[in-house]
Amino acid sequence: MSDNTSSNLIFDDFSEDVTALKSLSPEHTPNHRVKLFHGNSNPALAKAISDSLKLPLGKAMVTTFANGEIREEIKESVRGARVFVIQPTCGRVNDSLMELLIMTDALKRASAYQVCAVIPYYGYAKQEKRLGREPITAKLVANLLTTAGVDRVITCDLHAAAIQGFFDIPVDNLSAIPIFLEYIKSKNINREDLVVVSPDAGGVTRATKLAEQLGAKLAIIFKRRPEPDKSTVIDLVGKVANKTCIIVDDMISTGGTLIEGVKALKRHGAKTVYAAVTHALFASSAVKLINKSALEELIVTDTIPISEEAKKMKKLKILSVANLFAQAIVRTQLYKPISPLFLK
Ligand code: R5P
Repeated sequence: MSDNTSSNLIFDDFSEDVTALKSLSPEHTPNHRVKLFHGNSNPALAKAISDSLKLPLGKAMVTTFANGEIREEIKESVRGARVFVIQPTCGRVNDSLMELLIMTDALKRASAYQVCAVIPYYGYAKQEKRLGREPITAKLVANLLTTAGVDRVITCDLHAAAIQGFFDIPVDNLSAIPIFLEYIKSKNINREDLVVVSPDAGGVTRATKLAEQLGAKLAIIFKRRPEPDKSTVIDLVGKVANKTCIIVDDMISTGGTLIEGVKALKRHGAKTVYAAVTHALFASSAVKLINKSALEELIVTDTIPISEEAKKMKKLKILSVANLFAQAIVRTQLYKPISPLFLK
C-alpha cells in the first residue's frame, strides 16, 4: 500500500474469525476448504485481503497467448474448495472480465465446490436500464458470470443497487460508507457546519446514510448529461453557504460530475468542499481537473489500483477496503451474517 493509504480500524478486530477459518481443514470439512485466487486487475488489493485473512493467494497462471487471447492455468488443487476470486472488473475492463470468467471456468472444471467472485468494482454498470435502443450491459455481465459458474458475488457500492437483482445467485453489495464515516469523523468537523451532498438524484440514498450518521444536513445537486461522459449542473437544493460540504459518490470517471459539483457548491457560497468517492477510475483528464479544482480533499478507496499520476495528488487520501472484503469473505465462509458490515 502507498503512504497515503490506510486501513480502517472498525474492520480490524476479527482475529477470532480468522483463526476459526484456518481451523477448517480439508480433512475435516472437505466441502468447506477455503482458497483465495486473483487475476491481474488489482493484485495489491488481493495481497492486502490475503494478509488480512492470513491465507495465501492460490497459484495460478494468468497470461496471454501470442495472439492476445487470455491463457490461464490453476497451479494447485482446488478440489472441494470454496474459492474466492478477487478481481475488480476495472482497468482494461474487457480483459479483467474475461480473466474472471476464464478463471471461474478453470476452477469449476478443477472441481472447486463453489466459486465466489469478489468484484470490489463492478464494471459495465453504467448501462443498467434500457433507454431507447441501448443494451443492459450490467445484466449481460451478470449472465456471463453465472454462465461461467460463479455461485455468489461480493461487490461494493454498485453503480445502481438494482444490479443485485440481475443475478439469481446471492450478491452482497458492501459499502465503503462506514470507512468514509470513520475517516470523516476523525477530522472533528463541527457538525453544525457539515453538509453531505449528493452530486445527482441517483446518489441521494447513499448521501442520506452518511448525513444521518454524521448528524449533518443534506444537499442535492441535479445534473444533466447532454452526452455520455459530460455533465452539467442544473440545480442545487439545500443550504451550503459558509458550510463544509462533502460530496459522496460511487465513482469518479472523467471527473466531470465532481468538478461541476464543486463549482456549483462554491458558487452557492460553500466554505470548503471535500469528496468521498468509492471507485477512483480517473479516466481521461480527471487527475488534472481535480488538481486545478477548488476541492480540498478527495477521499477514495483502493477497489481499483490508483494510477501513479493520481497518487501524486496532495489532496488525495486512499482508504483501503481490504479489511471490509476480508470480513465479508470470512463471514461467508463461516455462514455468519454480512449485515454487521453495513451501517444500521
Ligand atoms: C453517476 O452517473 C455516477 O454516480 C457518477 O457520478 C458518475 O459516473 C461519475 O462520472 P464522471 O466522473 O465521468 O462524471
